[in-house]
Order: sequence, then C-alpha cells, then structure tokens
Amino acid sequence: MLSPASRSPRILLLVPLLLLLLLFSAASAWKKDEFRNCKQTPFCKRARGRKPHSVPSLSVADVSISDGTVAARLLPSQPLRQATAVDDPESDTVPPRPLLLRISVYQGGVLRLHIDEDTSAPRRRFQVPDALLPDLDDRRLWLSRLSSPASGSSSFYLADGFEAVLVHDPFEIQVRRKGLREPVVSLNSHGLFDFEQLRDKKNDGEDWEEQFRGHTDTRPHGPQSISFDVSFHGADFVYGIPEHASTSLALRPTSGPGIEYSEPYRLFNLDVFEYLHDSPFGLYGSIPFMLSHGARSSSGFFWVNAAEMQIDVLAPGWDDPAAPANGRIDTLWMSEAGVVDAFFFVGPKPKDVLRQYTGITGTPAMPQKFAVAYHQCRWNYRDEEDVASVDAGFDEHDIPYDVLWLDIEHTDGKRYFTWDRLLFPNPKEMQGKLAAKGRHMVTIVDPHIKRDDSFYLHKEATGRGYYVKDATGKDFDGWCWPGSSSYPDMLNPEIREWWAEKFSFQNYAGSTPSLYIWNDMNEPSVFNGPEISMPRDAIHYGDVEHRELHNAYGYYFHMATSNGLLKRGNGKDRPFVLSRAFFAGSQRYGAVWTGDNTADWDHLRASVPMILTLGLTGMTFSGADVGGFFGNPEPELLVRWYQLGAYYPFFRAHAHQDTRRREPWLFGEHSTALIREAVHVRYSLLPYYYTLFREASVSGIPVMRPLWLEFPADKETYNSGEAFMVGPSLLVQGIYEERQKSVSVYLPDGQSWYNLRNGVSYTGGVSHKLEVSEDSIPTFQRAGTIIPRKDRFRRSSTQMVNDPYTLVVALNGSFAAEGELYVDDGKSYDFEQGAYIHRRFIFADRKLTSVNVHPANLGGKFSSDCVIERIVLLGLPSGAKKAVIEPGNHEADVELGPLTLRGGSSPDAITVRKPNVRIADDWTLRIL
Ligand code: NOJ
Repeated sequence: MLSPASRSPRILLLVPLLLLLLLFSAASAWKKDEFRNCKQTPFCKRARGRKPHSVPSLSVADVSISDGTVAARLLPSQPLRQATAVDDPESDTVPPRPLLLRISVYQGGVLRLHIDEDTSAPRRRFQVPDALLPDLDDRRLWLSRLSSPASGSSSFYLADGFEAVLVHDPFEIQVRRKGLREPVVSLNSHGLFDFEQLRDKKNDGEDWEEQFRGHTDTRPHGPQSISFDVSFHGADFVYGIPEHASTSLALRPTSGPGIEYSEPYRLFNLDVFEYLHDSPFGLYGSIPFMLSHGARSSSGFFWVNAAEMQIDVLAPGWDDPAAPANGRIDTLWMSEAGVVDAFFFVGPKPKDVLRQYTGITGTPAMPQKFAVAYHQCRWNYRDEEDVASVDAGFDEHDIPYDVLWLDIEHTDGKRYFTWDRLLFPNPKEMQGKLAAKGRHMVTIVDPHIKRDDSFYLHKEATGRGYYVKDATGKDFDGWCWPGSSSYPDMLNPEIREWWAEKFSFQNYAGSTPSLYIWNDMNEPSVFNGPEISMPRDAIHYGDVEHRELHNAYGYYFHMATSNGLLKRGNGKDRPFVLSRAFFAGSQRYGAVWTGDNTADWDHLRASVPMILTLGLTGMTFSGADVGGFFGNPEPELLVRWYQLGAYYPFFRAHAHQDTRRREPWLFGEHSTALIREAVHVRYSLLPYYYTLFREASVSGIPVMRPLWLEFPADKETYNSGEAFMVGPSLLVQGIYEERQKSVSVYLPDGQSWYNLRNGVSYTGGVSHKLEVSEDSIPTFQRAGTIIPRKDRFRRSSTQMVNDPYTLVVALNGSFAAEGELYVDDGKSYDFEQGAYIHRRFIFADRKLTSVNVHPANLGGKFSSDCVIERIVLLGLPSGAKKAVIEPGNHEADVELGPLTLRGGSSPDAITVRKPNVRIADDWTLRIL
C-alpha cells in the first residue's frame, strides 16, 4: 500500500519511475525472496507435514446411481479442518459436515471425480467455468449398475477392459484393469485426503488473513484448502504440470528418501524476471495435468482447479523406507481453494492419454499457415523506419520471415490499442507494406489498463464497473507498465464480449487485417502486488476471490482476445494470439511461449523439456525466445539457438530492450549464412509442420514430441529431454554446449535413421557418437517415413503457396515408407467443411502411391495446382533407371540429384526428377 505522504502529486510522478527502477534492478537476478516458498504458504506447509493415514479418515455412505452418475456422501470421522486442530487447539472447531461425491464416466476411458461441500456450507466454492469443452456432457456414459467386488466397495464400468472401484472405508478411488487387483491410478491410497470446510468468521486469528513481505491478504472465508495423494501404478516416470523450468523432462522427486530439500512443484502464474533454468518454482502458466509412463502402461490425472497448487512427486520409500515401492509413483496434490473436480485417464498407451486429456479440454486450434513460419520480435522496433529497415534486411540477406512484432513502446504511453503518433504515424501503411510481401504484424495488448481519465478504454471500463475490485470493493489499482492501472474482470462473460469488440477494425484504429495480437503480463503481473501479482483477496465477478481463480485469469484474457480476432474477421479468419499466461484449455485460443529466458546455454537446453511438457499438456503451439530474452548471446549460442528454434512449434526470436541489436545479419557473414540455413530448414519443412498441426488439432498429439511418445516400449527414451521428435518422422538433437565437438545421440527403434543433411544412414536401437559440425544440429529422418517439403525460398511462407513440393522417402528394411500431407487455404475455417487436401503417400514394392484420406462425406472443396517436382529416395538400392506414372503412363527420369535445393554442397541422392504429379490427384509412380 502507498503511504498517504506518497500521494502528493510530485511524489506520485516519481513512484512509477522508482518502481520501474526497482523492477530493473530486480531483473538482474532471480529474487527468490520475492516469492513464497511452501513453508511460507500455510496450506502447503500443513499438507506437506502430514504422514500417510494420519488425516482423520473419511468413509463413503449412501452410494447410489442417480442420473447415470455415482453419488455418495463422504463422512468425516472428525472435523475436517486440520488447521484449527493442529495450529491452534483452542480455536473453534466445526462439527463434521458430509461432503458430496459424484463420479461420472466419459467415452474413451475417462473418469471424473467431483467432491464439494453440501448445501449447508456458508457459500459456494469456486468451480472454473468454461475451461472444459462445452459438449463434454454429450460424451458421458450412462451408468446403470454398481457391483460390489468385495464387501465395502462399489465398482462400475469405465472402458473396455477397465473398471473403477470406490472403496468405502477409508475412502479411496481406484481405476484398474478388469480382473487385476493392482490399479492403474488411485486416489487417497495413502490416506492424505483433506478438505478444509468453509466457516463463518467467529474470532480473529491467523486463519482470517495471511501476510507476505508486507502484504496482508484477508481470508474472509478462512482456510479452504484441499489435498490428497494420487498414485500412478506401473509407472517409471511422471511428466507434465507446467510451467517450470527444467533440464529434465521427467519430473524429478521433490520429497522422500534421497531428496535433501526441495520445494514442491508450484502452479501459480507469476511474472518471474530472470527465472532459474532448473527449479520447481512456478512460472507464467499452470496446467494441473500429470501423465505417467512405464513399460507396462501410461495413465493421467487432471485436476480442474485454478487456485494456487503445489504438487510433490514422492521418491520411492517416502511412505515406508524399508519397503520402497517399485513401479509406482506417488504424488501429493495440494490446492489453496476450489473443489475436487478431477479426471483420471486410463491410457493405456501415451497417445491415448493425450487424446483423453484433449478430449476434455480441447485440441489445439488450427493455426494460420503464416504463424507456423518464422517471427521476428524485439522490445522494441523503434519506429516505422526501423520496421522498414529490418524488413528490408531480411530481403537483402535472403532470409525469409513472416511476422514482425511490436512490443509495448509502439503505443501512446502504454495505452493499448493506440499508437505513438510520432514513432508510428502511419500504422496502416506500415502494415500494408509488409502485407504486400505476404508478411504480417503482431502488436502487444496487455491486460493492465492505464488509469487515465482521458483514455477511452479506462473511461468505459470504469463507467461500466468492468474492473476487478479490491477487497474493499473499489476498482483494484496496481502498478504496471503504464503506472497506475486497473484490470478488466475477464471472468465475466459480458466483459469478455466487451473486450472482444475492441479488436474490430473500427475500434482498434490503425489496425488492418494483417495485424494479429500478443497478450503479455496476464498472470496478471502487478509490480507492486504480492509476488508481483494481484492480491488474493481481490474480488471478481460473482464474488469470486482472486485466490480461487488466479491461475485462470490469463486464460480468460487470452480467450477474450482470441474471440475478438474471430469476431473482427466475421468468424472467417483464424485468430493468432500469443499469450504468456495459460491454463488447461488455452490451446483452444492460441500459442504460448516460455517467457523471459536468458541468453545462456542452460536456458537453451531447458527450452526443450519445457516445450515438450507444454506439448504433452495440450499446448503444442509453443516456443522459447530464440537467442534468449535477457543478455547478449555470443554468435555461437545465437546460431545454435536458431538451429534448435527452427524446430520449435512456435519459432520466434525476441530480446529485451537493454540488449544489443541482434537481427540475424549482425554477427558477420558466416553467422548470417548459418542462421539463413537454419531458417531455410524450417521453411522447407513447413508442409510437414502444417500437416502436424492438423494432426494436433484433430487428435491432440503434439507437433514436438518426447521420444517415448513414438517409441513407448523403448526404456532408453523415457527420460530423454535433449533429443525430441518432430511428428513421427524426424528426430532432432540439440547442441547445448559451447564449442562442442561430439555428441552422443540415441536413435530408437530397430529401423535405421537417415541424417537429414547428408542422407547417411544410422542403425536404430543404439547410441551413436557423432561429430558435431557448426552447420547444423544432428537431425534424422526415421526409416519408413515420407516427409513433404518445399525447397524453394521466397520472402515469406505466403509467397510459397504455389511452389512445388519435394517428397523425401526414407525406406525401411522392407523398402517401404509412409507419410502424409495436409493442405488447406492456410487462413479460413473452410477446412471445417472439408475444404482441404489430405493425402497419404505409401511406398511399397518400388511403387509410390498417393491415396486420398479426405473423408468422402465432407462436401467442401479446396483446389490446388501444386505439383511434386522431386522425389528423393533414401535407402533404395541403386540401379533405378526411370519412373512410370499412372494415370497417363508418362515417364520421369531417375538420377542422382542434390538432397536439398539449398545452397552448399549437399550430396546427391537417388531422385525422381519432375514427376510433376499434382498433390490433389490420385496417382502411382513405379520405379523401374
Ligand atoms: C515481458 C515479456 O515477457 C517480454 O517478452 C516483453 O518484451 C516485455 N514484457 C515488454 O513487453
């Protein structure tokens, strides 16, 4: 809070400056003390301090089936409020109130558990609205029968081969394979379930407020946390629950034997300057979804809860050091508020778990084609002249790019939806010039609105009462980039509608159809708030406390912005909105990035597990700032970052305003050439990436994948976070060390792999020690796959639209291969009516066939005259002379040709020259 003295006008003017200064000095290193740890967080400290089965147990009573779901009451044996009993035996206790339990089952192997207070509670607890798919209820299975496998439990059908068991006393849920005793996933097997019930305030004391670094948050409803244990049986590793920075893809244990001290994984959306590259500390987004994988099965658990969450992964032996469990991973989930609304996914394969999870929260939106290409960003491109010169620089240096970004300085005093009239006097013309080359622009729109009475947005929001309120009921006023700011209450659908309207071309003056949006600081970031965020006792629509909804604020902001772009284009133009904060389901609204990383090798390394984790939890359209946000990368690091970033699903370079300029041509000709090559690799693979985005949007399987997603039986891959797959066909190994001379790469599977650069084949199932070259990072195409490429280079992806394709056919031991190509207009939603081309290419018996996989019943048409101009055949025994193409019986030459059409000395491969078959047609090409 500001002292009264600080409200004098002169000092008021100084405050923003001081705050900014403070902020930048804070930016010099991660300030651990600014953020709470578990011991400073009462619910976390309490839950973590409990021993297995020490919590008063609950028993299940009155089990019945009602409306096709299982209903029961959970009866506490003592008052459930542990805090009172433990912390202050003198304070009031509440008589036990039963909890209401409901279990429903959904198609495809999904169980939902819901536990809430009964109607006698003093108020309704918060349940996150609009996070799950609206049609979820249509996929609910109607349960009609309960059976009792043993006395004291009820069981019911879950999916083919799976059942759920509700154990009555003490209460436990088990999801298991029919006929087997050992569950797949279970909840409360260790008796740690605890549910702090709401109370009316009767006395003062620490239950009713909490303090941190001079901030006091009231707790008008007392402590209301929930915690429980979840066990993943048959699991070797667990993954997921972003966002944390880590060099490990598998979640390392945070508690138990062998762990000296670790914080639990924290899920609390925060704006963290200079985050550490390896820490369980919570970053900008939260997805409370964990997956497990092991040789025997994969499963998943998801808790729809937007309050602060802390999750421990418990090391074997945590419960009984004398008998550490083998093949089971126990976890402890703790949340500050909300209800239990949790989903169990049975797998059994890892891709099944992802389908089950995205079946609940939605698959990623299909991006526009341009958004899959390369983005150039910097805080800030200064003015229109700067924009023009950067744009020209790309052309001059023959580096394609698709999007130029403008950060906060382009606005009039950080009033979003406005332009600094001196620096950007002609925004439409500027966008028009980019658009003429097929390029786009992105501007930033943050949620903090400048409290300036002459600013129309502030006037409207104030007048309509659209801001989040502080605990006293006044508009919440916090500090952010513009100084004193307020935050629209995005929980309210009416306010989201209002916000969405602001993106119309009429309302957003200076915007044009080639302009898209970046949402930043939406955790929300509040410079003078507790932990640089909003106080937990701020009040939202429906009297919801900020503490209940915190992790979803950014999600609603992203949703409203994305819907704004949708409306702007009359529902015909796919939105592109990048958001920093996210929650489960954000994949339906756009892309995310991993925030303010640092230009060092460790951050380069951590980017891969971070992006893989996002992909596993639905957010496939994600990337890290190429080059590192803070600091100045040495040319070698920058080049390596481009080489790796070219494979991120979202490929954008970005830098802090205090860094030196780093457009790709500023590091000498040699580095420019290497970066050009890296960007070219991405552009040539755009048809493959776009096809993968289509797959993700249909099935939830991410574009960038951990190796074990493709090779679930190969144990060597379970904890690999250095190498990754792009789709089913490419394996990429980053180079994460300076002047690295060699690298060991494990290539899974029994099949061979072809080096993307020189076509050399390597045996699968073993590690290879490879020499590292500066030209590229090791990348391999899996034998048995076909990758579509476009090898000619233009200024932007838009300009490549009519270019011919190359197919790279990598044959396996049986001389066979398969791959897919998906093409649509790259922009509209016509694909939903079937306006697309979707082919499967199958090579077998020296014959390549293009098969239509477009469902016949979908009417819409998309036409393309694009042809395939080259077919590269890897692994074909020599001796091929020509190719004969049907229909038409025409011939094409088979000869040695370059592996890629890019400059340099790529070696030759067997190539079918100019078959010129159309991608839209059925055809067969026989190699003679
Ligand atoms: C913080 C974001 O993470 C960063 O990318 C951006 O440049 C600054 N805010 C300024 O808008």
